[in-house]
Amino acid sequence: MTPNSLSSWSALKAHYEHIRDARLRDWFAADSGKPSRAERFTFEGGGLAADFSKNRITEETLSLLVALAREAGVEKRRDAMFAGEIVNPTEGRAALHTALRATRADAPYHAEVAAERGKMAAFAERVRNGAWTGYTGKRIRHVVNIGIGGSDLGPKMVVHALDHLSHPEISTYFVSNVDGADLARVMDRIDAEETLVIVVSKTFTTLETMTNARSLRDWFVAKGCPESALAKHFVGVSANPAEVVKFGIAHDNVFQMWDWVGGRYSLWSAVGLSIMIAIGPLQFDALLAGAAGMDAHFREAPLERNLPVLMGLVGIWYRNFFESQSYLVAPYSEALHFLPSYLQQLEMESNGKSARLDGGFVDYPTSAVTWGEPGTNGQHAFFQMLHQGPTIVPIDFIAVLRPEHPLASHHPKLLANCFAQSEALMLGRTVDEATRVAGPDKPELVPHLVFPGNRPSTTLLLDALTPGSLGALIALYEHKVLVQATVWNINPFDQWGVELGKILGKVVEADLTAPVFDPAKHDSSTSALIERARSAAKAN
Ligand code: F6P
Repeated sequence: MTPNSLSSWSALKAHYEHIRDARLRDWFAADSGKPSRAERFTFEGGGLAADFSKNRITEETLSLLVALAREAGVEKRRDAMFAGEIVNPTEGRAALHTALRATRADAPYHAEVAAERGKMAAFAERVRNGAWTGYTGKRIRHVVNIGIGGSDLGPKMVVHALDHLSHPEISTYFVSNVDGADLARVMDRIDAEETLVIVVSKTFTTLETMTNARSLRDWFVAKGCPESALAKHFVGVSANPAEVVKFGIAHDNVFQMWDWVGGRYSLWSAVGLSIMIAIGPLQFDALLAGAAGMDAHFREAPLERNLPVLMGLVGIWYRNFFESQSYLVAPYSEALHFLPSYLQQLEMESNGKSARLDGGFVDYPTSAVTWGEPGTNGQHAFFQMLHQGPTIVPIDFIAVLRPEHPLASHHPKLLANCFAQSEALMLGRTVDEATRVAGPDKPELVPHLVFPGNRPSTTLLLDALTPGSLGALIALYEHKVLVQATVWNINPFDQWGVELGKILGKVVEADLTAPVFDPAKHDSSTSALIERARSAAKAN
């Protein structure tokens, strides 16, 4: 199946030609209807609200997009995922991140999931209440999560987002980069006697994670921790427990994840141990419950009012019909600082693919480049381009209605900026308006004061930033990715594209350190780079 051979796709193409030049400001101005355009295009689910009205869509657009989702089999694929079918055929696996937050006892793997969560909760409580101590009997005050990609970005994003709920005596650090500067920075801030290290790696073979874990283990020993007491300071999370034990982590300190959970979908599992230690098991349960609420909405709401479906389809509308190259996530929330980088992996590692599920390659664009930065910071950096550059970048604005901090007077300023940006991008400023602003003395300024407008955005609203609303928000994006993958007929659950660089990386690493180097092994550019690095190392 290729989506561009479906009848709904052809209908969308014709519809696109019809409305491509229509202007949002005209639609709003002409909208005397009750309910209003805003009401007609705002949908709710899982406790979140999404205002799609500033998108370049009409009712007809949405109904054609929903027809595309139906024709492409979104409902079937969704149900197959929840049922635990092999929806990741290239790795022969299910993708059951939803089972990690399911409450029903008949959900797949319910007993295993509950047992592991119970083990996590017991451990987290001991760390939080000081019963778990380091080798000199002191309580744990520093938790270091060592992992990368899905074993880092999700927990880091959530721990930062829910910092207002975190244990007052425990600080959490995340080390991911193989650049020693990352670990060295954390080593400077922690005290070995009071530090717990969580080594998180699904495979437990990842170069960055294993390098950092070994260096930190050596550091503990150098600081005076007896080898026999390392079990008090190291726990592991992996789907490969044998490797964890081989590394030297005590069998009792191994937390299980499973091959039916993808790395970038895994924060709900023991990969989220750092989250649970930071906010406690009850709040972790609330995070899961929020995601479960979005799961229920995704499964049960009609496609016409289904948030993940609509978000996925609106993304396809811009990517495949307007041919936009990227889309921006702008959380107006410092707490959601790491949401864009988390979503970069979720969206681009999942849907940055060309091989179709039924063989052959796509001849249509798949994942857009996902990028973002919290507002209002982005306004003082790249929003100039969004307003007046020639490229259209669709945006997800995310706003939290009630602040999670005591500086309440800041909040109206934050929200005002968020809402005003979407309004300005949509309205733009016409030549007439710009002429009035320029005044009679400065006609040469007019072109610089014109804003093309008609720049689309969706605004997602969270009532407050709680574990529940955050869980729902993350699940919303997870399911959006599945919807898009289904229409594009690609597998969102594998990541073959990361392999080649890893293989060549090992060869280059050996060449950097070998006594003799044969430049004929590589292209002239790579060999020259290796030779420069070898010379620099010798000079060191
Ligand atoms: O190289 C990409 C990747 O495999 C991601 O998919 C994954 O989240 C990350 O590396 C870390 O993998 P692991 O948890 O096995 O260390």
